[in-house]
Amino acid sequence: MATFINLLQILIFLVTAINASDDDVTWAKRVVTKNEVITTLQFYFHDKLSGQNPTAIRIAQSSQTNNNSSTLFGMLMMIDDPLTVGPDPASKIVGRARGMYGSAGQTDFGLIMVLSYGFLDGIYDGSSFSMLSINPVMQPVREMAIVGGTGLFRLARGYAIAHTYMADPATGDAVVGYNVTIATYV
Ligand SMILES: *[C@@H]1O[C@H](CO)[C@@H](O)[C@H](O)[C@H]1NC(C)=O
Ligand SMILES: *[C@@H]1O[C@H](CO)[C@@H](O)[C@H](O)[C@H]1NC(C)=O
Ligand SMILES: *[C@@H]1O[C@H](CO)[C@@H](O)[C@H](O)[C@H]1NC(C)=O
Repeated sequence: MATFINLLQILIFLVTAINASDDDVTWAKRVVTKNEVITTLQFYFHDKLSGQNPTAIRIAQSSQTNNNSSTLFGMLMMIDDPLTVGPDPASKIVGRARGMYGSAGQTDFGLIMVLSYGFLDGIYDGSSFSMLSINPVMQPVREMAIVGGTGLFRLARGYAIAHTYMADPATGDAVVGYNVTIATYV
């Protein structure tokens, strides 16, 4: 009898655990193994420099290079960019990328990304991961390092694969698809 109750408790625990991770989130998937949790995320980043309400603003530019540098070396931007489920900016917002990127390449266009990606949806609401990496934006696909996080992403290690979905050279506006893999402890 005791064994039966124990089994029942384990079963109830398992069902609850599955429900907790399953959620109604379509853009993220958590796989719990014995030692770690692997979370894969897929979302789109909307960097809007143009118009009345830009989400990315230039906060500094080196007076040494001004606008002479073809790579904009010495330029610094502050951003608060929406993250959505699809490439359409009107699709559901699941988080925001906040922080800075700056042009750190003299010979080729490379942005240093110093950003916190904070989420607002489902079980990820309130969790964030931090990125610190060079983003060679002219390459169609880039890999960037994830160096930590909060909430469900506490002690995160991981990487993001970013691919440009749309970029307007006239305005600088861009939509970037992200595929993210994060490992955390159980
Ligand atoms: C930038 O361009 C201006 C005008 O063409 C020039 O006088 C200046 O020396 C240039 N600055 C640098 C850092 O190349
Ligand atoms: C650089 O160019 C932008 C847009 O063309 C202009 O608004 C800005 O004043 C220029 N900055 C410098 C330091 O010359
Ligand atoms: C991102 O993930 C999707 C779905 O798994 C895949 O189709 C796509 O090729 C991936 N993109 C990149 C750049 O890896």
